[in-house]
Amino acid sequence: MNPTGSSSLSRRSVLAAAAGGALLAAVGGTTALGATQAGKPGFPRGFRWGCATAAYQIEGNNTGSDLWFLENTVPTTFVERSGDACDSYHRYEEDIALLARLGFNSYRFSIDWARIEPTRGDFSNAEIDYYQRVIACCHKHGVAPAVTFFHSAAPRWFAMAGGWLNPEAPALFARFCSTAARAMVQGMSCAFTLNEPQVAQVFRAIPGASAYFTRQDELSKAAHAAAAKGLNSERFVTTDFPDPEGMTPLLIAGHEQGYAAIKAERSDLPVGVTLSVTDFQPGGEDSPYEEIRRKAYGAWLDTIRRTGDFTGVQNYRQIRIPGKGKAFPPLPPTPFAEAGDRIADLQRPEALGNAVEYIHAETQKPIMVSENGIETDNDARRVWYIDGAIASLQASMARGVPVMGYYHWSLLDNFEWTRGYKPRFGLVAVDRTTFKRTPKPSAAHLGGIARRYS
Ligand code: BGC
Repeated sequence: MNPTGSSSLSRRSVLAAAAGGALLAAVGGTTALGATQAGKPGFPRGFRWGCATAAYQIEGNNTGSDLWFLENTVPTTFVERSGDACDSYHRYEEDIALLARLGFNSYRFSIDWARIEPTRGDFSNAEIDYYQRVIACCHKHGVAPAVTFFHSAAPRWFAMAGGWLNPEAPALFARFCSTAARAMVQGMSCAFTLNEPQVAQVFRAIPGASAYFTRQDELSKAAHAAAAKGLNSERFVTTDFPDPEGMTPLLIAGHEQGYAAIKAERSDLPVGVTLSVTDFQPGGEDSPYEEIRRKAYGAWLDTIRRTGDFTGVQNYRQIRIPGKGKAFPPLPPTPFAEAGDRIADLQRPEALGNAVEYIHAETQKPIMVSENGIETDNDARRVWYIDGAIASLQASMARGVPVMGYYHWSLLDNFEWTRGYKPRFGLVAVDRTTFKRTPKPSAAHLGGIARRYS
């Protein structure tokens, strides 16, 4: 590993992106993709190699967020509290320097709306200044900042006004985007409006999911009702509230208005939305997998065709949908998995290439792999997964899919929402008491790939 070499390499790509549309231009036509860069087929000049995080999952003490209140309500859907998380709010420089040292040239992180607009219409200059420092820190370390404006958590006042079921939600979000973008957009290399606005639809589209959701929705409704009562509010609606159909039109309008607000501040910045993309495949004859794909993605594919400079693809699994006819032979078990581990069976790295090809065919926009990763305590399995995922991405690119970058989920073992700290997706382990970061072998492995292809 050569830290000096890595940071000068990544600094070059940051400079390339500083020219605004350079990132998009790099994949502007399918011809650019076939081109080799000094004998490195498949990855265009300016390709982003990064790790992704989200404010609520790593910063710690996001006390103004709606989810913070929900975590601390009885009953709650959260198995534990986020608390200090990884304390990245204070340790961002350590995280960014580590990411650069590992060989990455970009960092995807989110800004916490609740910190920036702690009360409706009142923006905190101190917190805007804080995120400006995070962006500046990325540049100092030769890392291109890729910024998400909304990653699941909203201000508490927003939830009390009805969250994404409130007709005013898109305009409120757009106002936040406009203020945050005005202050920070010049330092960004690309931006994401919303993170996985249709993730609930994906999970609900899985055959057999309805029994689970019937129980889960009851608990979630009780938790939201208790939160509303605790706040003396008529309403309390977070992204965890079980009404995805009701929220979809408002989320779509939120993306469209947020996109316009950010572009108004800097028209050459690549801006897009990210989708949760499970690779639904046929598992037998007459499989309804296409119908399931439509339910999971349909409304958003139409939206992205209208609004977005690229499509963010976030893939973690493949699910084979059985049909009415004869079942296809089962796939061989994945390596490193315990026999009978049904989740491990879905964690197939080739799903990434399939997801990217499907979403590109549907949206005709360049693709940014904004998240891809694996939940496992076995880091050798993560290395196996990374190699397979990158190979499948490379194969898709060789078939003509324009891909702008790859962000691994996640840099750190972090707070996995309602599931707490037990699921581990990180390239880097974090001691929950001392906050010491310890890179796993997979971090050097993927960082090495990033460096080789930067
Ligand atoms: C989300 C992340 C989450 C990851 C792993 C994605 O759906 O964007 O916030 O932690 O999956 O569960």
